[in-house]
Amino acid sequence: MKLFDTKPKSDPHFLYGREKELENLVDYLSEKNWVILLGPRRIGKTSLAECAITKLKQKAVILDARENNNFVKGLNDALAKEGSISIKAGIKVPHLPINLEIDYKKNLSTKNLNSAIKKTKHFFVLIDEAQWLKNPKKVVMLLAHLYDYYYENITFIITGSMIGVMKSIIDPGAQSPLYGRAITKMEIKRWGSSTSISFLKAGTKEIGLDLDDKSAVNIEEHLDGLPGWLTLFGYNYSHIKNPNSALTETIKEAKKIISQELKSIAELGIGSPRLLAILKGLSKEPMRFVDLLDSTGFSNAVLSNHLNTLNKLGYVEKNEKDRYFISDPMLAQFISGKIE
Ligand SMILES: Nc1ncnc2c1ncn2[C@@H]1O[C@H](COP(=O)(O)OP(=O)(O)OP(=O)(O)O)[C@@H](O)[C@H]1O
Ligand SMILES: [Mg+2]
Repeated sequence: MKLFDTKPKSDPHFLYGREKELENLVDYLSEKNWVILLGPRRIGKTSLAECAITKLKQKAVILDARENNNFVKGLNDALAKEGSISIKAGIKVPHLPINLEIDYKKNLSTKNLNSAIKKTKHFFVLIDEAQWLKNPKKVVMLLAHLYDYYYENITFIITGSMIGVMKSIIDPGAQSPLYGRAITKMEIKRWGSSTSISFLKAGTKEIGLDLDDKSAVNIEEHLDGLPGWLTLFGYNYSHIKNPNSALTETIKEAKKIISQELKSIAELGIGSPRLLAILKGLSKEPMRFVDLLDSTGFSNAVLSNHLNTLNKLGYVEKNEKDRYFISDPMLAQFISGKIE
């Protein structure tokens, strides 16, 4: 593995500039705290979670809600695929004979589930991109049950975009089954320019190349502190070996990735023209909800619904002045037509 590897990092050695976050996360998890990692797309949520799991040296079940949005089925499949949950000491525990397909409530009361989980040694479950799980109410119910009865056996790490992760997990109201259970929230921030630049320098050094200061600053200005794009630049640079051409290639690929993502959203039927209208407004400057109402002409409900979707996608965030903005400069440029 290298700093510029484009897969999520799972080796802490290659997780750059997140020492404090990793240390905190490992501390929380080793005390069996449940943790939610929040952040926009390509910020490094999966990497941070996987590195923490590696550090804890315990096998974990990883469930990507974007691939499998049925929590129960996903958990079931993941456990089945795992075959067994191997733990640090090397003891193999047969995989949980749970058939979670059945109704949660009914199933949760079965002796099967209870005794199966009790028999296992402690393990982690990473729910990646939890905002895509369907049936959030049931998921929350199951989570609350697992929290109450299996806290010693299962620890959850949940990732998602800022407000988009099921609100019922982040901020459970009094009616929520998760109400009153302590879940630690960690927000993963983009890198500042000096971290981005030192990441670029460290990564290029690792691949035996040089990167002059002017180029590094230029790349940082284009790609902002988003580790995902900076890593993609580094990967391209390792092949192209010319910073300007590698940046051009990165922007070209970013455009392709973004347009593909937007296409899949449209295919999911999430109202792409309306999302685009909102993004268009935001691509010029951050805007308040009322200003967006004006500029799009949408009703309150439609706008709030679509902003919620954009947030779930990790594309739009709200700043401290209550203005919405596009998290990713590549997306903003793509939308405003600056990337051809
Ligand atoms: N701290 C880091 N050090 C080195 N590389 C990183 C770091 N954080 C992220 N990356 C790289 O950035 C890219 C995106 O990381 P990752 O997939 O972990 O982010 P994410 O927030 O889960 O993104 P997504 O929204 O696509 O799920 C990957 O190529 C990963 O290797
Ligand atoms: Mg991820």
